[in-house]
Amino acid sequence: MRDYSNPDLLITEDFETQEIGWQSPSNIAIIKYWGKHGVQLPRNPSISFTLSAAHTRTEVTYHPKSTADKIELEFYFEGKQNPAFSKKIEAFLTSILDIFPFLSQLKLVVHSSNSFPHSAGIASSASAMSALSLCLCSMEQELFKTLSDRNEFLEKASYISRLGSGSACRSVYPTMAAWGATSHLADTSDLYAVECGDQIHDVFKTYHDDILFISKKEKSVSSRAGHALMEGNPYAAPRYQQANDRFGLLMTALKTGDIAAFGELAEQEALTLHALMMTSNPAYILMTPNSMEAIARVQNFRKTTDIPLYFTLDAGPNLHLLYPHSVKEPVAKFIKEQLVELCEDGGFLEDAVGEGAFRYL
Ligand code: DP6
Repeated sequence: MRDYSNPDLLITEDFETQEIGWQSPSNIAIIKYWGKHGVQLPRNPSISFTLSAAHTRTEVTYHPKSTADKIELEFYFEGKQNPAFSKKIEAFLTSILDIFPFLSQLKLVVHSSNSFPHSAGIASSASAMSALSLCLCSMEQELFKTLSDRNEFLEKASYISRLGSGSACRSVYPTMAAWGATSHLADTSDLYAVECGDQIHDVFKTYHDDILFISKKEKSVSSRAGHALMEGNPYAAPRYQQANDRFGLLMTALKTGDIAAFGELAEQEALTLHALMMTSNPAYILMTPNSMEAIARVQNFRKTTDIPLYFTLDAGPNLHLLYPHSVKEPVAKFIKEQLVELCEDGGFLEDAVGEGAFRYL
C-alpha cells in the first residue's frame, strides 16, 4: 500500500519566496465513480476523458514564517477573498500535513480562478483540486528535489488530488485516465489514477465534449451527499459489479475504435448514475424536463442521420455531447438549431479531449 507520509520533508535551510502556477482541466467520466468508502476510496473503477476548455488556474506563493504550527492560508477565488472556499482548502491542507509537513512552516497565498463561470453547473472540484495538488507537488520538488521523475510526480499529484475530490485524481493526465483497481486494465489502483491515452484508438483522441448548460442553478444534492447515499442503496452491490463489467467492455470499444459501442455505454452509464439517485433514500432527481427533452432530441438526431452523437451526464442536469471531430459541422448545426433553446440563457461550452495539466509559473 502506497504511503506518502514523510516526516523528513521539513525545511532546514533558508529559501526564497516563490510562486508556482498550474492550469488543470476538468474531466468527464464515461464509466462513473459513484459510491466511496474509507478515505476517498472508490467502490468501482472509473474512466474519463480529460477536457481542455473547462479548467482552473491556481497560483501558490509561499513565504517563510517563524513558527511551524498550523496552516496559514490567504485564499482568493477569482481575485476576491472567499472565506467558504478558504475554510475547505485549509481543512484539506491540514489533512495532508503528514504528507507535506513543510506546509506548516509556510505562509501560503493562493489565487484560483476558473475558465468557466462558477455558477454554470460544471463540476469544478476536479480541476480545482488537481490544480492545487499539482502546485503542492511542485513546491515539494522546488524545496527538496524529490519529485523530478515525471511519472512519480504525476502519480503523487493524482493521489493528493484524490484526497481533495475523487474525480480530480483523473484530471492530471492527458487524454484519458482511469481510477480504481480493475483486472480490465494493468496497473490500476484505488489510490491514484493512471494514464491510458496510449491504449485507445486515434478516433477517440479527436473527441469533442460540448456541455449544454440546461440549468445553472446550484444542485439540490451535492456529489459528496450523493456518494454517501449509495451506502443504503439496495442496488449498490450489483451496480459496482456492473461498473467493473462495463469498464471491460468500454476498454475493448476504446481499443478497437468502436464508436457505437462506446456511445451506447456512455449513455447507459449516464442514465444508470441518475437511476441510482432516484433509488436512493431519500430519492432525488437532478435532471430537469429540458434534460429529458435534450436526450430525446439527441437520440432522434442519431437515429435519423446515422451521425454518432451520444450524450453523457455528470451529477447534474447538464448534457455532455460526445462526438468525433469528423462530424463537427452537422453536430454544430444541430446544437444551434435544436438544443440551444433548451439551455439556460442559451449557454453551452465547446470542449474537447485535451493535453492535460501544465505548469505556467
Ligand atoms: C458523477 O469527485 O465530485 O462526476 O470525491 O466527493 O469530491 P467527491 O466526489 P466527486 O464525484 C464525481 C462523481 C461523478 C462521476 C465521476 O466523475 O466519475
